[in-house]
Amino acid sequence: MATAVLGMQWGDEGKGKITHLLAKQADMVVRFNGGPNAGHTMIDRGVKFGTHQIPAGAFYSDTCCVLASGMVVDMWVLREEYEAISHHLGREPQLLVSESAHLILPYHRILEELEGSGARIGTTRRGIGTAYRDKAARVGIRAGDLLHPQRLCDKLSHRLDLLKRMWPASSEIASLSVESLSETLLAASQPFLESITDASAAIRLALKEGKVIFEGAQGALLDLDFGTYPYVTSSSTTLAGLGNAIGIPFPQVEQRIGVVKAYTTRVGEGPFPTELADEEGGKQLREQGGEFGVTTGRPRRCGWLDLVALRHAAALNDPTRLDITKLDVLSGMAEIKVCRAYRLRGSKITDFPHGRGEELALCEPIYETFPGWDEEIGNVRKLEELPQAARDYLEVVTQEVGVPIGLVSVGPAPEETIVT
Ligand code: IMP
Repeated sequence: MATAVLGMQWGDEGKGKITHLLAKQADMVVRFNGGPNAGHTMIDRGVKFGTHQIPAGAFYSDTCCVLASGMVVDMWVLREEYEAISHHLGREPQLLVSESAHLILPYHRILEELEGSGARIGTTRRGIGTAYRDKAARVGIRAGDLLHPQRLCDKLSHRLDLLKRMWPASSEIASLSVESLSETLLAASQPFLESITDASAAIRLALKEGKVIFEGAQGALLDLDFGTYPYVTSSSTTLAGLGNAIGIPFPQVEQRIGVVKAYTTRVGEGPFPTELADEEGGKQLREQGGEFGVTTGRPRRCGWLDLVALRHAAALNDPTRLDITKLDVLSGMAEIKVCRAYRLRGSKITDFPHGRGEELALCEPIYETFPGWDEEIGNVRKLEELPQAARDYLEVVTQEVGVPIGLVSVGPAPEETIVT
């Protein structure tokens, strides 16, 4: 039995909490895309964690965590997270790292700064795009290379030669050397060397014999191909990209959970039709929802729920259930708006123009307004105990996507959850 937990917006939907809740019953949790750009927040035994690369399964002793080949892995960040989680648990998490996952090396961050994509796209500045680019350009270093130090040094030497020729004026690039880079990389990776393996084979076996969760990072609208290009991340963030990221064609994923925040947020640049200015309520959502990036601390842009974008995300993720998060943040709003269509150059459109970013930037939302509710709902544990206005709001979302709601989150703690 396999389950996928997938973001339906621009990331930060609350996938960490959902995966953490499910991981208890899982034999394996697989992260299949992205790297330390993600920040999955969860509360484990009362302690708040923001993990970046290690899947939420790490908190359970019987669950094996896999960093699949679709990821780009920063070994220094992984080491830090691994040590923090080990310290919290009093034991080391079970971990497998795909031998074909590419590594983020210090020059990927340097290149991102030199090229200015941090400012242009509003990236997380973690070297994600430049590491995926090295993969596509076939000059990347993979986790499997760590098992062969001479091979690692030869590849690093080739890569550093190219870099030094391309950036002769950069003192940061000039200071890189094969010896010190390979030495510090191998030292940081030391606890994981025995975990580097053919992860596809391990996932295939687990799919036959046990319960597997695929944990997506970011969200459908940040997908490299079908998101709001070029304001996207550099990996496939959807179910559509899962098979390639784990090396298994058409993986049987019976349960596909589309995680939807009850409103919308976005970090970084790019079009966002339902964005609210601070004076229109954007500030209220940001403050009530604690909408500041886990990875970068940046304030998130906030706005109403965009059902046009959500239908597009549903086409990419084919969800069998929607998990709605942060419904409690909407308590106290005088009215709540949802966008079902856009106005573009005077005409009404209902399809998300993902391939035409310039047009999306011109789209104005057409809103429907619903009454809000005043009650605090953090203590509610049953759907029928929610205020009528909150239930009506959930009904609008589920009707629009045509998929039932599986769970509603009304607070960050695991128990602050309504299971339908
Ligand atoms: P990158 O993934 O760091 O290259 O950033 C590309 C875009 O994706 C930027 O707009 C980032 O803010 C956004 N992004 C990347 N990871 C996340 C995430 O986990 N949550 C929300 N936005 C993200």
